[in-house]
Amino acid sequence: MQQQPQPPPQPPVDAISRRSLLTVAAAGTLALALPQVAGTPPAGARRPVARALRPYANPLPIPKVLTGADLTIPMREAEVSILPGRKTRMWTYGGSFPGPTIRRPAGVTTRVRFQHRLPREAGELTVHLHGGHNRCSEDGHPGGLTSAQPQSLYCDISPGLSSAESGNDLLIFRGGERTYTYEQVEDGAPERSAFQWYHDHRLDRTARNIWRGLAGMWILDDELDASLPLPRGSRDIPLMLADRSFDARNQLTDPFAAQRRPPNDGVTGERVLVNGAVLPHHRVRAQRYRLRVLNASHFRAYELRLSGGLPMVQIATDAGLMPRPVRRSRILIGPGERVEIVVDFAAARGGRVRLLSGRRPGGPKSLGSATYAGPLMEFRVGATREPDRTSVPRELRPLPAWLAEASRQPSHVWSFAVSGGLRPRWLVNGRSFDPTYADVTAKLGETVTWELHNPTGVAHLIHLHHTDWYMISRNGRRPPPWEACLKDTFFLDPRERVVIAGRMSDYTGKYVMHCHMLDHEDHGLMSQFEVVA
Ligand code: C2O
Ligand code: CU
Repeated sequence: MQQQPQPPPQPPVDAISRRSLLTVAAAGTLALALPQVAGTPPAGARRPVARALRPYANPLPIPKVLTGADLTIPMREAEVSILPGRKTRMWTYGGSFPGPTIRRPAGVTTRVRFQHRLPREAGELTVHLHGGHNRCSEDGHPGGLTSAQPQSLYCDISPGLSSAESGNDLLIFRGGERTYTYEQVEDGAPERSAFQWYHDHRLDRTARNIWRGLAGMWILDDELDASLPLPRGSRDIPLMLADRSFDARNQLTDPFAAQRRPPNDGVTGERVLVNGAVLPHHRVRAQRYRLRVLNASHFRAYELRLSGGLPMVQIATDAGLMPRPVRRSRILIGPGERVEIVVDFAAARGGRVRLLSGRRPGGPKSLGSATYAGPLMEFRVGATREPDRTSVPRELRPLPAWLAEASRQPSHVWSFAVSGGLRPRWLVNGRSFDPTYADVTAKLGETVTWELHNPTGVAHLIHLHHTDWYMISRNGRRPPPWEACLKDTFFLDPRERVVIAGRMSDYTGKYVMHCHMLDHEDHGLMSQFEVVA
């Protein structure tokens, strides 16, 4: 049956900017707790930039795709076209925001040389491939104190550490470069296909560095994924959601002032960008598409849905294909998480479909739990009836065999808190981040079961490096089908407990786990585990 969702009349732009201000104000207690939300101008201020912006006028940018085994990416300043009028000066991977999408076959080594060509203010940098299973030297360690960054306001870095102790030997110094080697192998087999991303991970400054533009997408392909009859080519689209605020000259605001203290340190941007564009449109044929959605925002969560009630068939999570597809009408996605969905636009032939974010029905209203409400982008569906040989198989990727040996009882609990005192900081098991400290050790080859516990009044998105994790339970109950699979980042509303299992294969060393709300991470909510032989 053909169903043509009517595009709602386009609201005048003034109404949109007012609405987005209201949205910020309505995002739960956030606006109340934070007098200046990410540089949001006070209501009523004149905003010439917003006036010129025509919703859905700009095409969706698709970042350039790099496929080579040996890549070089300069990290440099560039003028990026985001809002109408003046360009925005950003810190970029390769001159664009998002950076180029790297697309590589699993099981084959990829080397990426990152060259530091940013101004002095940037200090040292480090690049993490989020979702990759990599040697700890290649994992983008945050590092410690340097002459460019002689102190940390929030983390417990002892002075006088050697560069190996602090991880400074892994940093990229200004004017220098570092080549990261990604083997893309796990447990003797190619890694699973997945939608990953790469971004800066520097101590104390990850939020600032990513806000300025240091983020890009990475698609790992494998044979199983390629053998499925899923949409591919121009019908496989990565979408990076990231919110930013701009001043009247279209430049990024700097919301990372030291007075933003835990627990009121969640930065949100006033505008949500999709692949670096505000409210873009994309022309699609009346066929199935694979949409890979990354929430690269600092603090904002989204509750995705499609206008006209068009169904989304979720096929993958952070860690790639799920055992079976799940049909969903709304999808909650927090900072750092990814979902892949298949959408059949044949049901909206000749119409327009909007990707929207709405409120979480019945969800907690606490800081970080409330979602953005507003449109994100528009798909313009072709009027021609098109044959479509793609489909979504009933079985995708089976869960890994190691799960059979996973204990249901956690052997370690990661629990979060805010310290007291004049300079509150986030704590993991009573400590803020210390590059020399590991809170727990695991044996190489061991399958560990750990609990994530959020006793705070703020949501957290907990990401663990090194491997993919299977969710055993959420608050003592069996997780929903879209979480009963492998993932690497977990949404924890206040008072929630999540039990996860992961297998420590291939690499020894210290790996970080942290909140992917980037201010939380910078303000201490990061710890380490160590894999030992
Ligand atoms: Cu996406 Cu440790 O980060
Ligand atoms: Cu957090």
